[in-house]
Amino acid sequence: MVNIIETKNLSKTYNGKIKAVDNLNITIQEGEIYGLLGPNGAGKTTTINMLTTRLSPTSGTATVAGLDVIKDSMKVRRILGVVPQDLTADEDLTGRENLELVAKFYDVPREKAKERIDSLLKMVEMTEASTRYVKGYSGGMRKRLELIIGLVNDPKILFLDEPTLGLDVQTRSLMWKYVRQIQQNLNVTIILTSHYLEEIDALAEHVSIVDHGKILITGTPEELKASLKGDVITVSFKEQHEAEAMKNISGVIEATDSGPNTVRIKVENADDSLPGIINFISENKLSTVRLTVTKPTLDEVFLEYTGRDIRSEEPTDARKAMMNMRRVRQ
Ligand SMILES: Nc1ncnc2c1ncn2[C@@H]1O[C@H](COP(=O)(O)OP(=O)(O)OP(=O)(O)O)[C@@H](O)[C@H]1O
Ligand SMILES: [Mg+2]
Repeated sequence: MVNIIETKNLSKTYNGKIKAVDNLNITIQEGEIYGLLGPNGAGKTTTINMLTTRLSPTSGTATVAGLDVIKDSMKVRRILGVVPQDLTADEDLTGRENLELVAKFYDVPREKAKERIDSLLKMVEMTEASTRYVKGYSGGMRKRLELIIGLVNDPKILFLDEPTLGLDVQTRSLMWKYVRQIQQNLNVTIILTSHYLEEIDALAEHVSIVDHGKILITGTPEELKASLKGDVITVSFKEQHEAEAMKNISGVIEATDSGPNTVRIKVENADDSLPGIINFISENKLSTVRLTVTKPTLDEVFLEYTGRDIRSEEPTDARKAMMNMRRVRQ
């Protein structure tokens, strides 16, 4: 396995005080999809901007395909494709014109550019839409166009900063299909940032959970889930109930209040602990509304390592993305 990206103590401090990225050490293998998962302000975009030479690090180093992002920035740029978090396509041009503009920027010869643009449009099922103005595109069409804009220069590595933010579930899974196709058919290493745990779980071979500019844990999604050791039983009661009393049930590692009348109980093994919990409920004559058992998911991993639920971060961002798209439509 060849490491295509390596960072050593990569750091960025804005205005001498905001430590956006704090001694980041990552290695990314050639050909893989690597996920950076973290809440708002975790430092994901700042990391991507440094790796793509748009932003210079305050300290530390990073190499991309053996090239230093500072000393060899021009060479690095030639082998990268970037799909930034913010939308970039020109709304007063057609989809195809946008792609042609990028091809021109990278000096792709005319014939070759046409061939590549045609095949990229076909891949994301946008051939027909490509002759229309971008301002008339739906949010999903717009994101598909943005995705292939990053591929016009035939990059070895593609950076996708929140590729599906604010998209509906259906369009999101369509985007996942394209991302897999890009990895497999075009032989591209992909670095992806996301708020969506399902997305990282579905796509990434390795993931780093980042928060406050630091990596909290790295591994395959399966390794991270396995590291949690334990299942979670969530019980919602009809009336107010404190978690405290449930801590002494046999097999319970931890019981915490989580939301109105709801207790989150971590146990070694749900199958072994459920009878004891059900007994407790009936002995205390408690009425429950719902009881769910979850095997560790990336949600649980995130909660465990950051101390909070990533979902609470979503609405603001989804709203941000919606506003972006509204702006696009106007
Ligand atoms: N140009 C800037 N000047 C000053 N501070 C900045 C700048 N860009 C980002 N920051 C700060 O650096 C931190 C990391 O921001 P960054 O955009 O990298 O996070 P992120 O993980 O991409 O967040 P999001 O999920 O919202 O996109 C935040 O505290 C942010 O406010
Ligand atoms: Mg960001």
